[in-house]
Amino acid sequence: MFKRFRRLRSSANMRELVQETRLSKSDLVYPLFARFGVGVRNEIGSMPDVFQLSIDELVKEAAAARGKGIRAVMLFGLPDTKDGVGSDALSENGIIAEATRALKKAAPDLLVFTDLCFCEYTDHGHCGVIDPKSGYVDNDATLELLAKQALIHAKAGSDCVAPSGMMDGMVVAIRAALDENGFETLPILSYSTKFASAFYGPFRDAAQSAPSFGDRRGYQMNPANAREAIAESLEDEAQGADMLMIKPALAYLDIARRLREQTNLPIALYNVSGEYAMLKAAGKLGLIDYDRALMETMIAFKRAGADLIITYHAKEVCDLLDGGEI
Ligand code: PBG
Repeated sequence: MFKRFRRLRSSANMRELVQETRLSKSDLVYPLFARFGVGVRNEIGSMPDVFQLSIDELVKEAAAARGKGIRAVMLFGLPDTKDGVGSDALSENGIIAEATRALKKAAPDLLVFTDLCFCEYTDHGHCGVIDPKSGYVDNDATLELLAKQALIHAKAGSDCVAPSGMMDGMVVAIRAALDENGFETLPILSYSTKFASAFYGPFRDAAQSAPSFGDRRGYQMNPANAREAIAESLEDEAQGADMLMIKPALAYLDIARRLREQTNLPIALYNVSGEYAMLKAAGKLGLIDYDRALMETMIAFKRAGADLIITYHAKEVCDLLDGGEI
């Protein structure tokens, strides 16, 4: 009998030797939600085991993550007050600035990536300022604000700014502002290909950032478009992005693979809130083997071409790697 494919599957050791793709703790970026207050640890309803954290708690969570072997966090901020332009994001005493300073002080060895966007800070929940005439997000006015926000993050000690608002020209605008102000060595991880996705639902609960009118389809991408997805990312590379991102991850592995073949930059895949919620829910109901499904998902991201995986599961993945899973 022809048993060619069995030969190298005969033992765990042999399978390990010929494994093509590996997952390691260095692949992981752990998203965290910072808010004001003291001793606050609010679990997010639609994301079990994920919390909105006051800065004292955030520092503890980050230290625990670093202790498990995680090298980077992605920081999101929840301001106390929101307004039309997102003033908290433009203030040196805003939540991201305060949280970044605290994290860098407490854990200098942990990389703090900061999400650069306005949807968590504006009262209308859109990712930029609204043009009163058209009622849509004003791209170019938002670019000026993004440049200011990037400098706030840079001065607070961010290790990498990550613009997520899908404004046209955002990378070049942010790069120019950083370079002019002495932050030439601060990298940009662009959310370069971000789809208008239903899988962001639980995040919007977490960040209280659902748009109060309309939707984000005017600036986020149509899930049906693959060529445009590559064009978006290559455009950000041309503008000077240091790393690119595909978001969401699970339903877009074909895009990650295509991009992998067209760029030499590192690629991050964002395993978003809705993907996290689905796996958690199915696990809790006992419908799947949660640990195995989780690790299978992670290795699939690597196989598709991801260098970085941004995931709420990061701490669990470390525990499973320590336990010899995969
Ligand atoms: C926008 C932003 C979003 C996410 C990360 N950055 C949400 C959005 O576009 O509505 C989603 C992350 C997730 O769903 O886990 N600042």
